[in-house]
Amino acid sequence: MARKNVPQERHELQSVVERIKKSFARWRQDPVVFVQEALNANPWEKQEEVLRALAAHRRVCFVSCHGVGKTKTAAWAVLWFLYCHPGAKVITTAPTWHQVEHQLWREIRAEFAKLSENLAPVKVGQCFTTRLELAPDWFAVGLSTNEPERFQGFHAEQLLVVIDEAGGVSSSIFAAAESYMTSAHTKMLLVGNPTQPGTELHKAFLSPDYYKVQVSAFDTPNLRAGNVVRPYLVTPAWVEERRREWGEDSALFQMRVLGQFPSASVDSVITPAMLAAARVAPNTRRGTRVIAADIARFGDDRTVVLVLDGTEVAECHVLVGKDTMYTAAFIHILAQRYKPDAIAIDGTGVGAGVVDRLREMGNEVLEVNSAERASEPEQFANLRAEMWWKAREMFAQGLVSLNADDELSLELTTPIYFLRLGRIQVESKDDIKRRLGRSPDKADAYVIGLHALRQLATLHRMRRA
Ligand SMILES: Nc1ncnc2c1ncn2[C@@H]1O[C@H](COP(=O)(O)OP(=O)(O)OP(=O)(O)O)[C@@H](O)[C@H]1O
Ligand SMILES: [Mg+2]
Repeated sequence: MARKNVPQERHELQSVVERIKKSFARWRQDPVVFVQEALNANPWEKQEEVLRALAAHRRVCFVSCHGVGKTKTAAWAVLWFLYCHPGAKVITTAPTWHQVEHQLWREIRAEFAKLSENLAPVKVGQCFTTRLELAPDWFAVGLSTNEPERFQGFHAEQLLVVIDEAGGVSSSIFAAAESYMTSAHTKMLLVGNPTQPGTELHKAFLSPDYYKVQVSAFDTPNLRAGNVVRPYLVTPAWVEERRREWGEDSALFQMRVLGQFPSASVDSVITPAMLAAARVAPNTRRGTRVIAADIARFGDDRTVVLVLDGTEVAECHVLVGKDTMYTAAFIHILAQRYKPDAIAIDGTGVGAGVVDRLREMGNEVLEVNSAERASEPEQFANLRAEMWWKAREMFAQGLVSLNADDELSLELTTPIYFLRLGRIQVESKDDIKRRLGRSPDKADAYVIGLHALRQLATLHRMRRA
């Protein structure tokens, strides 16, 4: 085929640019049209409501149950605001860096790829892991909440602040974000699951300054249709499972399924105050060594192997993508080095393979199956609930000395407990994973470690008796 001459190519490109410019003027008026035309996406009605609200209002708060497309909507909002407002800046954040990079920015990168494809051959900027840049002064960026100082100093005529999982973001970050709201053209979008009363998200939700969209699982397309018409959204089966596990009158059902803030406060098993006390408590079990491991079950989960000296974490190893043979060999070598008093491993799923192999190599292993019956089944729904509850008691009695790093602190204080049919139940790993963005493997390994310490103490008492 004959190649087009250069002036002709330039002319064609010019007309594409003109067409796109006209489109942007139209898209600026209506983010829903932008999402449909520029990104070829198909928002459902509540997502549309949030997008349109953002065009019309300065502050929008979107709270709901799990899996209704909040993060996706936030990603669309980022792209719409950035592309339709020349020179704009968008600041985004979430409680953990993992959530910034692997949830919100994963969606932003996916939508950017669609935009690039749709608007080719016009170049629509460069997208990095957590930064999307159209020009040096025209960009969207993901920030970590560990560094409130980084929130200062963004100046732009048009600015949007987006906070995903806003219920878990501290007041210092909200204060920094709020300092931008003095400017007339700044907008704020908060999205998240309802959390404890009293959080910044809850305050925003009660404030008359916000346009609010609240969504229950029962409002979503799959539940309204009674079957799965949008497989990526929350499903009737999930709601049914939650109903059975939590009960309809529980605070968890209210928050996670109905998308409502709970009427009474919901307690985490281990509270921040307990962790603070553990930082200054004496390590009375120093010298007793335990190796505790939480083995990756599937997909992206990590295997965490802790070496405990009494209740302190002496070493923490995170293995990603390793098979059972590697993991067993790794723990075996640690055991040879430290000669621990106990090796405790969650043998659920693939963990069983690690336990078997370690035993084959001559190690004595305390196998823990967290999904199985508790030793006091009338009090606890399963062994996991029992182990977490007993860990809580150790913390409450001042028996834990622990200088937890940020990740372990967050994971230990995340799980919520509740009563179900008279028994204590602790939020499941999968539910926490949805909420935290990753599995709380370090905390689970630690709780297994405390379980082993308790077993050793019982054994010791029995031997002395
Ligand atoms: N309109 C849509 N079209 C296609 N995919 C969508 C749409 N809305 C959401 N999704 C996809 O559905 C899944 C759930 O959406 P998302 O993660 O945004 O929900 P969420 O409300 O933020 O969930 P969570 O409460 O767990 O944070 C994601 O994989 C997302 O990409
Ligand atoms: Mg989300």
